[in-house]
This record gives sequence, structure tokens and C-alpha cells, in this order.
Amino acid sequence: MKLGIFDSGLGGLLIAKSIREHMPDIDILYFGDTLHLPYGNRSAEAIYEYSKRAIEFLFAQDCALIITACNTVSASALRRLQQEYLPQSRYADRRVLGVVVPTLETAIDRGYKRLGVIATNYTIETGIYPDELQKIDPEIKIFQKHTPLLVPLIENSGAQWLPSVLEHYLLPMMENRIECLILGCTHFPFLKNDIKKIIGEEVSLISQDDIIPVKLANYLKRHPEIDQQISREAHSEFLVSDVTKSYLDAAEEIYQAKIQIQHAAFDPINNSYYNAKAQ
Ligand code: DGL
Repeated sequence: MKLGIFDSGLGGLLIAKSIREHMPDIDILYFGDTLHLPYGNRSAEAIYEYSKRAIEFLFAQDCALIITACNTVSASALRRLQQEYLPQSRYADRRVLGVVVPTLETAIDRGYKRLGVIATNYTIETGIYPDELQKIDPEIKIFQKHTPLLVPLIENSGAQWLPSVLEHYLLPMMENRIECLILGCTHFPFLKNDIKKIIGEEVSLISQDDIIPVKLANYLKRHPEIDQQISREAHSEFLVSDVTKSYLDAAEEIYQAKIQIQHAAFDPINNSYYNAKAQ
């Protein structure tokens, strides 16, 4: 069986790449829902429905464990997927994990007491970061900022405007005397260098491409029943729900390697995806 990695689009390839570097032989299946990207502006119901289809597809493609690399999904649909969908599905023995709690745990383990987080409108509005932090350690302070222009600028070659937009978002955040800044969106690891220039050396960056592989290794160690199901033949497969030339180019730029992207086509009659190449 495989490790599934799910994102609303291609940003999660950064996490896939980082997992591949940490676990060179684990079999990975990546699915990016490019047909419905961006999730960050959708309703909770839409995000849940899109995510459920994606998760079902990844399980049908033989994934034992799925990581939802997307913060918006982790914030909105994950709990419902874990508690409502999974137990009554035919995949009740499989697992879906998110990225928000592992990210907060890392910040806390590193001893930070004043955290900043930037993310999509949706993630910030759900209050997932402060809510989860409250459960783990209510003494720690967290300051949030929604940064809606960043994903469109990254996706539409808007690099020249990024420094000024980042300053606009981050300078007020710095007034809160944060000790670390959490990048709460799949796309933001692209911005590490630009962000570092603004926040300086005093404030640490917590980036999910750095921490999720470590957290995953730890999870697999604690869950040998899942670990033993995942095969290790160094296979990587990449599927997206809509294929365009610009997605193909962007995927290789993000993954920094030649990769073969396949099409997961949508079948409206069965309300599910299928691997178009495998038909
Ligand atoms: N993947 C989303 C996230 O991490 C960002 C892109 C989107 O809005 O779909 O929140």
C-alpha cells in the first residue's frame, strides 16, 4: 500500500518532496485537486465534499495513510472526515492526518511562547490555530494574519509584488513581538527567503515542509500497524484533477525535478475520480 498526500493543488508537492528526501524508499501517491483550487475561498460544505472525494480516491488507489497537506482542509474538513466519514466507510482501518496540530506541537516543543501564523482567509477565520493551541497550552499567545494575496501572486507569476505585499502583512505582525512565524499554507515555503528578509534573524520560521516528514516518521514509529502496510519500493505517482500546460510546468518547478503528472478524471455519475491512464 502507499502513503497518500492530498492538497487542493500543487503547493503540497513541497511536502511530498520533503517526505521523499527524508524517506527515500516509501511509496507515495500525490493528489492535487487542481480542478477546484483554490479551496481557501470556498464554503465549508464545498471543502468537505471535495476533500471526501479526494480521500476516497486515494484510498481506492491503495493508500493506507493520507496526509492532508492543505491547511484549509486541515482547518475545515479534517475532523469531520476522521469522525464521520472514515468510521462508516469501507476504509475504517485506514487513517487521515492533518498538518495543524503537528505544526503547533513543533512550535511548543521548541519553547516559543509568542507565535505568529499567516494563512488563507478560510484557515484564519476557522480559528483552528488558536483553538488547537488552547487545548494544548492556553498560556501560549498566538497572533493571526490572513494573507489572501499570497497564493494568487505565487500562482500567477506575481513574484515582483511579493516583497511589498509581504511587508504589508508582516510588519504589523512583528509589533506583537512574536518569537516564531508559522507558515500555515502549503504555498508559503516558497516565500521563506523573502519572509526571512522582513522578519530578520530574531524570529524563527516554522515551515511545514521541514516539520511534517519528522512528525510522519514519529507517527509511523508509534503506529506499526500502519507502518507495516506501506510498501517501500521508492515509487512516486502524481495525479491532479485538471491538467494544463501551466500546471505541468509549475509542478516541475515546485518539485525541482522532472515528474510525470497523470490525470485523475472526474466521473459525475459515480461522483468519484478515476485514474484516466489506468482505464
Ligand atoms: N492549499 C491551501 C492551504 O494550504 C492553499 C491554496 C488554496 O486556497 O487552495 O491552505
